[in-house]
Amino acid sequence: METNKPRRTADQTIRALIQHSHRGPKDLAVATGHRRPTPGPGDYLIRVGAAGVNFADVMQTHGTYAGGPRAPYVAGFEAAGEIVGIGADVESPLPLGTHVIGTGPGSFAQYMTMPAAGVLPVPTGWSDAEALGMVLNWTTALAALKPLGGIETGDAVLVHAAAGGVGQAAVRLARHYGARVIATASPAKHAAVEALGADEVLDGRHPGLVAEITRLTGGAGVDLVLESVGKATFAASLAVAKPFTGRIVVFGAASGDAAVTTHDLVFTHHAAIKGLHIGALAREAPSVYRSLLTEIEALVADGVYPPGTPQVHPLVEGPKVLRQLEAGTTRGKHALDPWR
Ligand SMILES: NC(=O)c1ccc[n+]([C@@H]2O[C@H](COP(=O)([O-])OP(=O)(O)OC[C@H]3O[C@@H](n4cnc5c(N)ncnc54)[C@H](OP(=O)(O)O)[C@@H]3O)[C@@H](O)[C@H]2O)c1
Repeated sequence: METNKPRRTADQTIRALIQHSHRGPKDLAVATGHRRPTPGPGDYLIRVGAAGVNFADVMQTHGTYAGGPRAPYVAGFEAAGEIVGIGADVESPLPLGTHVIGTGPGSFAQYMTMPAAGVLPVPTGWSDAEALGMVLNWTTALAALKPLGGIETGDAVLVHAAAGGVGQAAVRLARHYGARVIATASPAKHAAVEALGADEVLDGRHPGLVAEITRLTGGAGVDLVLESVGKATFAASLAVAKPFTGRIVVFGAASGDAAVTTHDLVFTHHAAIKGLHIGALAREAPSVYRSLLTEIEALVADGVYPPGTPQVHPLVEGPKVLRQLEAGTTRGKHALDPWR
């Protein structure tokens, strides 16, 4: 077996987006002479075809992502591309030339390494860019809805930031599992969320949000909340979750942190609150994570999960895309092409 030998180029330097400080995306810049990584034990070396942009990338540029890289670092952590090298100790490796989707350090670059255990083959007939989101957005949405959220047919499910990368996957999946979906998004993004099949789309920042959800559910509230916005929506999420049977799965805080006290839980808010980090789930509950990947592959095979349609930008536009994601002005999935 060929190991540690990337094909296609003898050049050991690559183009990459480097984050130089923790002052945000403004200190992210393209470097042309960056050293190509070599795959360590258990890793593939990937020729990146398309790199996924995620809200966590924004947090990393501020140094606020727990356990994230310290500047200077090659930015990005999600990509799809071709296996061009295989490190030691990879069990039953996929053949060189296979296109895979996965996560690893430094995806905003022409080459990166990925732990082989976490990758999925790019579905047959899909491009690298179309596969972005499979192991991040969709697994996070699926984990929040199923193993953590316990979604059941007929549940009322509230999905915040429903026009975003994870949000769009969550709306599609919740509808697939037979839920009634109440979604929130900025008004300019409502049409996109309606097109995904959400039953109601509301402005998550409207002061009448709780009253409107209460009205829509006949006073009963919702069975499940997918909470990723934090400060701007968490109080509403607590207020509309059904007492004792309701579940709130918290997996992000795009607008900043929110708090709940023990007093709140005893006297006011009686829904179950669960935390989710997909990387921690993969590490701490690997069999649950594997079952998520298996289900994602089945959803692809059944046509429930269609090829993604990310907006792909040249690498040099990475800082601008991250600024837009930070400002909440993007919709859907965005990606970078490191060869453009
Ligand atoms: N825990 C995990 O494992 C995990 C994995 C993936 C993602 N996440 C989290 O899931 C969330 C969605 O991630 P994503 O990558 O798909 O991003 P995204 O949803 O595409 O972008 C974030 C969205 O949050 C909304 N938002 C509300 N208040 C905001 C504010 N003050 N500033 C910026 N955005 C605001 C915006 O939508 P509106 O304009 O429609 O309000 C914005 O478009 C993020 O919180 C992310 O950290 C967590």
